[in-house]
Amino acid sequence: MAATIDYDALLAPDLPPPAPRWNGFAPYNFIGGNVDAASMPVEDMIAATASALRREGATLATYGLESGPLGYRPLREFVAAKLRKRSGLTVSPDNVLITSGSNQALDLVNEMFLRPGDTVLVEQFSYGGALARLRKLGGRPVGIPLDDDGMRMDLLGEKLAALASEGVKPKFIYVIPTIQNPGGSIMPEARRAELLELSAQYGVPVFEDECYADLLWTGERPPAIAAMDESNRVIHCGSFSKTIAPALRVGYIVAEPALVARMVACKTDGGTGALEEHFGTAAEFVPPAGGIFLWISLPDAVDAMKLSAASAASGIAINPGPEWSADAEPARSRIRLCFGNPTVGDIREGVKKLAEICHREFGIPLRSGNIERA
Ligand SMILES: Cc1ncc(COP(=O)(O)O)c(C=O)c1O
Repeated sequence: MAATIDYDALLAPDLPPPAPRWNGFAPYNFIGGNVDAASMPVEDMIAATASALRREGATLATYGLESGPLGYRPLREFVAAKLRKRSGLTVSPDNVLITSGSNQALDLVNEMFLRPGDTVLVEQFSYGGALARLRKLGGRPVGIPLDDDGMRMDLLGEKLAALASEGVKPKFIYVIPTIQNPGGSIMPEARRAELLELSAQYGVPVFEDECYADLLWTGERPPAIAAMDESNRVIHCGSFSKTIAPALRVGYIVAEPALVARMVACKTDGGTGALEEHFGTAAEFVPPAGGIFLWISLPDAVDAMKLSAASAASGIAINPGPEWSADAEPARSRIRLCFGNPTVGDIREGVKKLAEICHREFGIPLRSGNIERA
């Protein structure tokens, strides 16, 4: 009989643990960045795909669709036009690199700049996927506290000065300025200008992630930080995951040509109201100005990691705050709920059950379920 191969003996020693087998989404799924299935423009996508395939399907025969390694040129032109119209950012399609979701943009930037031990300044509460990616490469995410206007520039300045006095130069400052994830804040223009000043003062670039900027419901949208940059201080990325569909895996990154050339060289792929009803005043959150998430503070007695584990056992998937935070402790009692994809009925039912579990585990909210509105 042929001997079997002992793959465990061959695997590299520093691999992450194996991913658990996927058993479908939790019945009450408040995690991930999934969007509303009923809003998927299915017929329009079919028509657009059919027309694009008819027009230039033959280019699928070549890696890069005869548009080169930056990606499909008409899409880069579309992105450049969208950025000009919506973000105030004027770029040439030649400075736009199409990526497999904006996560690939994060990967490329990390790959280009990070080596183990390198410091990256991040919003104290930030996108868990970005934090995980930084840590995977041995990077050291250092959190800067936020207020209702996003990352606090006074504290960023203090941190940059303190690091400089220790001889530490952060590789970049990663920010989600427009509909911050998970907090939902929008950084005002004046604060964006302060960020650019600090970037210039300390010679540390800004990596601006505008994943949700096209999902703004109210108010004026400030220009992208990259649009206010008169030098080469900002790397900008965005995504079609939240405005069209996450499974499309289409994102983009914009930077100065020399940096885009470096990225291309690294790119080797070929080309929420149910809450008040059930939690009463126990759940505090700032209503977001857009996006698909609620970033919720629960009383100190609640351990979000334990709440997440207990709710998962009842089919309720939530993001525990520590996984969305540069330091676990400040987010110990916070949770992030995505309301983009569950139906209104599932949101009501799931949040009711979540409140019951929270009450069972931590005695909070004081009465589980059916708390009367004040
Ligand atoms: C802030 C932020 N950036 C990037 C991403 C990655 O999105 P995608 O790779 O689907 O474009 C996400 C996903 O939720 C996100 O929240």
